[in-house]
Amino acid sequence: MRKQIAAANWKMNLNLQQADDLLNEIVSKNIQLSEDQQAVFAVPFPYLLLTKEKIKNSKNFFVAAQNCYTQESGAFTGEVSAAMLSSIGIEYVIIGHSERREYFSEDNQILAQKVDVCLKNNLKAIFCCGESLEIREKGSQNQFVENQLKETLFHLEASAISGFVIAYEPIWAIGTGKTATAEEAQEMHAYVRNVFAEKYGNDVAQSISILYGGSVKANNAKEIFGKPDVDGGLVGGASLNGNEFSEIIQSLKS
Ligand code: PGA
Repeated sequence: MRKQIAAANWKMNLNLQQADDLLNEIVSKNIQLSEDQQAVFAVPFPYLLLTKEKIKNSKNFFVAAQNCYTQESGAFTGEVSAAMLSSIGIEYVIIGHSERREYFSEDNQILAQKVDVCLKNNLKAIFCCGESLEIREKGSQNQFVENQLKETLFHLEASAISGFVIAYEPIWAIGTGKTATAEEAQEMHAYVRNVFAEKYGNDVAQSISILYGGSVKANNAKEIFGKPDVDGGLVGGASLNGNEFSEIIQSLKS
């Protein structure tokens, strides 16, 4: 089975004490993950090493950064490179979250560079895509998402795409309490998988983990994750609550 992943996206939340408490709470639950299941914690940069230390005895728990810069090093005050993240043992980086696209003007070309620099530094990208409400209301969400994937990922070799992680996050469902229905998620996930199948073949497409994001909670995770092409979720608000996120991890397909 391809990897089933519950990824917490803390965004710009929590102080050090709160981060410490939340990690302690989740780790103390001693959640046992199978070989194909993963829990990933995308925490703010100042908490990366703390998180790494806290989860070190939890099997299949990983740490993610929420962003990195396009360049390897140099005079880019305030930025963090993929090489730095790799050097401290981080496994994943979220690339292309809709908040980065919207507030920091990250377009498909910039994101393609970020994906490349991650791969070069042995970091796995969790690549986000997803349409706005306006696009969904026009019915052009499939073309829009397909274009995001093509412009950012289609220059990669099949070997790089194999086992890749995509997060489909409809913007209208992020932080709004409004989720796509499990059926809407499945429909888009199947579409996305097919976009990869056409370019890279079915075996590669079947190896890609496609996470759903947008108001995933403990009370809807099981239904959404249960759909055949939904391989877990990228979770914002609910990942800040230890009980909620623990239940979400335990809602992964096994
Ligand atoms: P949300 O955020 O779960 O709070 O909707 C998801 C995300 O932005 O990754």
